[in-house]
Amino acid sequence: MRQLLPEPARTLDGREDLESAYATPSAPTVRANFVISLDAAVSLGGQSAALGGAADKEVFATLRALTDVVLVGAATVRAESYGPAKVAPPAIERRRARGQAPMPPIAVITRAGDLDPASDFFSRAPVRGLVPPSPLVLTCESIPSERRAALARVADIVICGDDSVDDKAALAALRQRGLAQVLCEGGPSILAGLVEADLLEELCLTHSPVLAGPGHQYLLGARPGPDQGPAADQVGESLSRWTMAFLAEADGMLFARYRSGEA
Ligand SMILES: NC(=O)c1ccc[n+]([C@@H]2O[C@H](COP(=O)([O-])OP(=O)(O)OC[C@H]3O[C@@H](n4cnc5c(N)ncnc54)[C@H](OP(=O)(O)O)[C@@H]3O)[C@@H](O)[C@H]2O)c1
Repeated sequence: MRQLLPEPARTLDGREDLESAYATPSAPTVRANFVISLDAAVSLGGQSAALGGAADKEVFATLRALTDVVLVGAATVRAESYGPAKVAPPAIERRRARGQAPMPPIAVITRAGDLDPASDFFSRAPVRGLVPPSPLVLTCESIPSERRAALARVADIVICGDDSVDDKAALAALRQRGLAQVLCEGGPSILAGLVEADLLEELCLTHSPVLAGPGHQYLLGARPGPDQGPAADQVGESLSRWTMAFLAEADGMLFARYRSGEA
């Protein structure tokens, strides 16, 4: 992978280089990572796999290796057959040196609680000799009681609202557990919630050189109708400005890190 920004340009050679390129400040950070097509589709055939590639997988693994916790929506867990977040042994040592647990837990946001307690996602089977941390289920009071009871046997249940999960309450609950660095892996509904609540601090975007065409799911969900969104003369005020903090290229893909706010 060739780092283009910040200058000087250089070759990023291996995971350790990538970890330093994607390192975050020690303060609490909420960042999201997505791979998108040129027209901002996030999935093809219901999954993101066809958009990614080898370098994208490296970045995905690097961001997991750096975070305290992975935050994800239940639909992504179901669509992408999630399991525990695996971390390679050298990265585990670097995590330990930073005072982090060997593997980040995954926190899933759900209202319906429609997750199979017997699925890989909740598996505590050792990975490279390490028992994965218990997943967290961030949910609300309205979760059906039988599902809540079944999930409580395989995960930590955290109630973060009445009829829906309040993102601020969810992040506070994670921080209370010492999970300050949050990596949101999607999907678009979860990203939209964080953006709406003004909680997103960093967006890592992999731009894949494919055009998906109409009819897919896009980065922030569906396109609004003509009567939605700000009027033309108010667009300037409503735009949130971001700064490109990092840009790299590999196999025709662009890897960008955007930080909230102007430089
Ligand atoms: N390209 C990429 O990098 C990327 C990354 C991630 C996902 N994806 C794709 O995105 C698609 C899934 O995205 P999505 O937007 O449909 O779903 P999602 O964001 O993964 O999950 C949506 C689900 O999260 C729960 N949820 C969301 N907000 C909630 C709230 N405030 N309170 C309680 N529960 C809440 C609900 O779960 P329940 O239904 O269980 O109540 C809801 O159905 C998949 O096709 C996946 O492949 C792509």
